[in-house]
Amino acid sequence: MEQNIIDHHKDPLSPWVVLKFGGTSVSNVNNWSNIVKIIQDRLEEGLKPIIVCSALSGISNTLEKLAEAAKDGGEGPILEQIFSTHINLAHTMGINYESILKESFEQLKRLSHGISLIGSYTPALKARVLAFGEIFSTQLGHAFFINKGLDSHWIDARSLLTTVASINESEGKRYLSASCDYGVDPQFKEKFSNSAVHITQGFIAQNPNKETVLLGRGGSDTSASYIASKLKANRLEIWTDVPGMFTTNPHETASARLLLHMDYDEAQELATSGAKVLHPKSIGPVRLAGVPLHIKWTERPDHPGTIIGKYNGLSSPSVKAVSMKSDIQVISMESISMWQQAGFLSDVFACFKQFGISIDLIATSETNVTVTLDRNSNIIDDQILDRLTIELRKFCSLKSFGSCAAVSLVGKNIRANLHKIAPALSAFEDKQIFLVSQSASDLNFTFVVEENEAHKIIRSLHSQFFSSIDESDETNAFGPQWNEIHINKDTSSNDNTERWWQSKRDKLLNIGQQSTPVYVYDLEHMEQQVRSLKALKSIQRFHYAVKANCHPDILRLFYNLGLHFDCVSSEEIKHLRRVLPDLKGSQILFTPNFASISEYEFALKQDCIVTLDNVHPIERHPQVFSGSKILVRVDSGIAKGHHPHVITSGPKSKFGVSHDELKRLSELASSASAQIIGLHAHVGSGILTPETWGETARFLAEVAASIPTVKILDLGGGLGVVEKPGQSPLNLTAVEKHLKLFHDLQPKYELWMEPGRFLTSEGGVLLAEVTQIKRKNGKNFIGINAGMNSLIRPSLYGAWHHICNLSRIEEITSVTADIVGPICESGDVLGHGRKMPISKEGDICLIANAGAYGHVMASHYNLREPAEEIILQNKV
Ligand code: LLP
Repeated sequence: MEQNIIDHHKDPLSPWVVLKFGGTSVSNVNNWSNIVKIIQDRLEEGLKPIIVCSALSGISNTLEKLAEAAKDGGEGPILEQIFSTHINLAHTMGINYESILKESFEQLKRLSHGISLIGSYTPALKARVLAFGEIFSTQLGHAFFINKGLDSHWIDARSLLTTVASINESEGKRYLSASCDYGVDPQFKEKFSNSAVHITQGFIAQNPNKETVLLGRGGSDTSASYIASKLKANRLEIWTDVPGMFTTNPHETASARLLLHMDYDEAQELATSGAKVLHPKSIGPVRLAGVPLHIKWTERPDHPGTIIGKYNGLSSPSVKAVSMKSDIQVISMESISMWQQAGFLSDVFACFKQFGISIDLIATSETNVTVTLDRNSNIIDDQILDRLTIELRKFCSLKSFGSCAAVSLVGKNIRANLHKIAPALSAFEDKQIFLVSQSASDLNFTFVVEENEAHKIIRSLHSQFFSSIDESDETNAFGPQWNEIHINKDTSSNDNTERWWQSKRDKLLNIGQQSTPVYVYDLEHMEQQVRSLKALKSIQRFHYAVKANCHPDILRLFYNLGLHFDCVSSEEIKHLRRVLPDLKGSQILFTPNFASISEYEFALKQDCIVTLDNVHPIERHPQVFSGSKILVRVDSGIAKGHHPHVITSGPKSKFGVSHDELKRLSELASSASAQIIGLHAHVGSGILTPETWGETARFLAEVAASIPTVKILDLGGGLGVVEKPGQSPLNLTAVEKHLKLFHDLQPKYELWMEPGRFLTSEGGVLLAEVTQIKRKNGKNFIGINAGMNSLIRPSLYGAWHHICNLSRIEEITSVTADIVGPICESGDVLGHGRKMPISKEGDICLIANAGAYGHVMASHYNLREPAEEIILQNKV
């Protein structure tokens, strides 16, 4: 079928191209150099580039915290952090920050000082504070462009974009999530007559009173779209840190496929239903002006990306994507008087209008109307929700559920595809689906479920629709898989580092040929990990989290390298003492959760340091703790981790005491004659954002201010390793930078950490033998003799482990297959949609990153022995 993008919709004479660069794209000098190259290319094409930039990664969040901290006069350290991030970048960009940024720094300082004097801030003031992120990034960018010889002009976005008021908007929305006029404006181009290149800020605009306003989170895309529309530009290019739009979130599902092109309607639907690449508000303006929108990848400018435009002739039913929107509130309203009653809907909807809240989805029956609200885009806080609830109760009885997610199938003529979703819904046999909604446009089918369950259903739906796409698909909409793009990137560009298991392949094959399944551990790699962690000079003590892998040789290695240990059960303590008879009790930290009192008793008798994460044990059994020195685990509310199951902080988590309870625990400790010598917080596991532990330290120090006996802050574990293609390793230098910043300000505290995964994950592999090959309905399966009973992480968390056929490592990977185990569960899949060579029974497969939470979580399910463990003999 002829495929026809209406790129001729664009004005062929328009010389304007608007390029928007997001936070990651402007956060390092390499990316800025790429931006310069991209601009030069556009100039060579004869176009006039307008560059729209976001703030540096993480800066908008930090500015938000700045405003909060300033209320109590605590803005100093956060200002320092913001300034140093920009000064460091200026330095690497070869820019003298004094002449470029100093004045804006001063303005921000004065503004935050103003907030500290008043002790509060309005939405208008918050908008002014947050606007500085984009001001700083564009000031740096402009200076860099000039240094590189570009004819660049800096424009204040507030002189370009003015908001249009809407009567129902709350004050918060008017200042923090405003909308602007974007009709094509023939005069608008005069604002860009100063030079060849113009640079301006995304996210910010002004209202008719000339006050600063924001366009909502992700609003830089919208700014760029407004500008492109007003100019009726040749095209809009949104440059991001991902290759384009995918069939699902590739960070969750690595077999997600790149969408090469989409219609405006589909892209709008996908962006609205949760795809994070584009802000939903950014499509309307370019669509109105008929400007094509290209999503491009800053790291690889040559990559095709996704093109959104008006396509003709492609109307065959096609599911393009499975997406998810989290932080959804479900409100179910029940009225007995609704039956054959006029006006009930109008009454309840008036309540939503009164609070300026827009409703996402609706389902109605005779007596019930259920709606969902997107808490993020609505800026709804608990207070507004409480007030709304009070109003609604005047008309109905009401149930409200938080922490839900909306899972959507997106594509044209979606109804024609519904028969295929049944298998995926079987996961919900005993779980609640709060609401099902099919959009009137037939572009979207959505169900709302508990957020924790959403990932499971997405994986299942994605596999259903995309694991065997017909390559001759007439729409040609589907490009390569995320993992293929990244594996090609790994081999073609910077990351040519050979993994230890590649250089030791012969030894591994030897082991595999003797017996499989088997975990093989390389102590050389684990020792290297310990040494690299010791670069965190601000940490005085590392406790290895024994739960990650308790193999005796690993424990001995870590002991000899000077690590202490963290145990979570009395059995772990006993095991440790058997393996390491010389280990002192004081080198063991006991951090259990909901353990029985006898375990605390045992640990204290062994002289271990005990962490309490509840008041119950010391309230009911004060004598057990009498005379002891303890740590208290506090819930920091910082919720991070590679999967909801491993996020151990936040209101719903069973771990830690809340800040409010700490006072009582402290009183109970002193009446039991126990001393709280430290505070502890472990936020989650598999974290790759380096600021996490600095944030935790700051949180704990704040809490510790009320307990003078606290000398130790234990920042927990959670240090992640690269698991999926496309992730960047945890930057330990940056972790140390954040910790040092904290430690320099608060030197009186000793800092501890409890790493598990970081030390052992990459040093372990699981070897398994190919048992059977199957092809069914166009889908390939490679069966191996290790299943979820040996390695449960893929089934439990959807964890991505690299899998290769070690026997045929140099052969072309020409087959896409699911790698499955022998367990009688459909979830027994170790890898979905993996590129493998043509494999044969008896081949040895390797599953990487299996040294942490592998063997320790194994089971005898189906009475199948899980994989054994072997230490690789490096000397032989
Ligand atoms: N400290 C405490 C209190 C913990 O609960 C944990 C892990 C750690 C330290 C070590 O965290 P790490 O550095 O290894 O991230 N089975 C999951 C991981 C569960 C982690 C439980 N707690 C997985 O396979 O990803």
